[in-house]
Amino acid sequence: MSRSGAQPITSEVQPNDLSAYWMPFTANRAFKKTPRIVTRAKGMHYYTADGRAVMDTIAGLWCCNAGHNRDSIVAAIQAQAETLDYAAPFQFAHPLGFQLASRIADMAPGDLDHVFFTNSGSEAVDTALKMALGYWHAKGESNRFRLIGRERGYHGIGFGGISVGGISPNRKAFATALIPGVDHLPHHYDRAQQAFTKGEPEYGAHFADALEGIVALHDASTIAAVIIEPMAGSTGVLPPPKGYLQRLRQICDKYGILLIFDEVITGFGRLGAAFAAERYGVIPDMITFAKGVTSGTAPMGGVIARKHIHDAFMKGPEHMVEFFHGYTYSAHPVACAAGIAALDLYRDEKLFERTKKLEPKWADAIMGLKGLPNVLDIRTLGLTAAVDLASIPDAVGKRGYDAMHLAFEKFNFILRNTGDTLALTPPLIISEDEIGQTVENMAKVIRAVA
Ligand SMILES: Cc1ncc(COP(=O)(O)O)c(C=O)c1O
Repeated sequence: MSRSGAQPITSEVQPNDLSAYWMPFTANRAFKKTPRIVTRAKGMHYYTADGRAVMDTIAGLWCCNAGHNRDSIVAAIQAQAETLDYAAPFQFAHPLGFQLASRIADMAPGDLDHVFFTNSGSEAVDTALKMALGYWHAKGESNRFRLIGRERGYHGIGFGGISVGGISPNRKAFATALIPGVDHLPHHYDRAQQAFTKGEPEYGAHFADALEGIVALHDASTIAAVIIEPMAGSTGVLPPPKGYLQRLRQICDKYGILLIFDEVITGFGRLGAAFAAERYGVIPDMITFAKGVTSGTAPMGGVIARKHIHDAFMKGPEHMVEFFHGYTYSAHPVACAAGIAALDLYRDEKLFERTKKLEPKWADAIMGLKGLPNVLDIRTLGLTAAVDLASIPDAVGKRGYDAMHLAFEKFNFILRNTGDTLALTPPLIISEDEIGQTVENMAKVIRAVA
């Protein structure tokens, strides 16, 4: 019993009052009428309070890449909480911050050698944008202030992230507070040319050339950086067309523009490599990461910067702070312990290599949904997939919402909907049998909402 005499709230007990919690990115009123609540998890599954197993086919929120409640990560978090609960990251440190940064830098390609820690993907994005502006300031080129994002891009929900982001509902209510000097590349999806492609579509590298137009409009001397997701995730899984990322890198190089890959989703194995930068052989100037770094077990994000970015800041009197930026919980000891344990698991179980091997089987299986009612397109990349369903006239998003709800309530699995697009991003430990089950479940849901 708690001090108040009330029953203690444990994860095994259903809450009896849902009103105080204003839930993020949730249809709060609908949720509170028919809640979807899980109380524990293990491996590929969540469990509800009444013991129902629900397969997690979106890895938490594209983050639990090693699956849920893995023993070694749990033990590392417990041990760290007992040993050192917190250490100030400004002017002080603890060993795990350095260890994890070295591990991440070792995994990143090229001279992406320096890691700055944040607590989320949104903070990672804002940090990278500030790093870009700070870099040009340090080089005496403060006139390079423009930041270029892309239509349909998702870069979290900070003011920087929604400004360079390209998802209208995330921006429109806050339009007066978006940061100035931002422009957007067009997205690279064309259903007529790309529908039902496994992996990278052949068509669409030329969409990168729009950067030339943006340069012609604003002049390269005013542009600090381009930020894109190598695979646009939240908008509904848009794999990059073959050659697109390479072409974007070339144009950035031509004009001295920094290129930032937002790898909050694609980092840590989702595409069968540590980072998309490795899969595509394209080295950006900065990579943002979050989610998979701790396999979703503790909040953490960060920016990996190339040597020239880091070194540009390292000047002036040595007692002076070089980058006026940071978070109270940057490199939090518990998150660092979780991160090191997660990276150990990825390495020991060869989960990135496993993903690479599984990708063709996954793609074939998911494409089996082609031909079901309302299926307009299916896209796959790494262990990720999206199925676009036709919208109900005058009720855009309703079919997708119903599919998400029914999947949980009736068919015992979790999918994510963005409007009428259904996305799947399972933990990288998913078995071939479970892939089969996922496809069967998806077929049931798609028929149920037809
Ligand atoms: C590409 C990308 N960037 C940034 C973010 C924001 O991350 P967070 O929700 O941890 O702030 C996300 C979240 O899904 C993302 O997909």
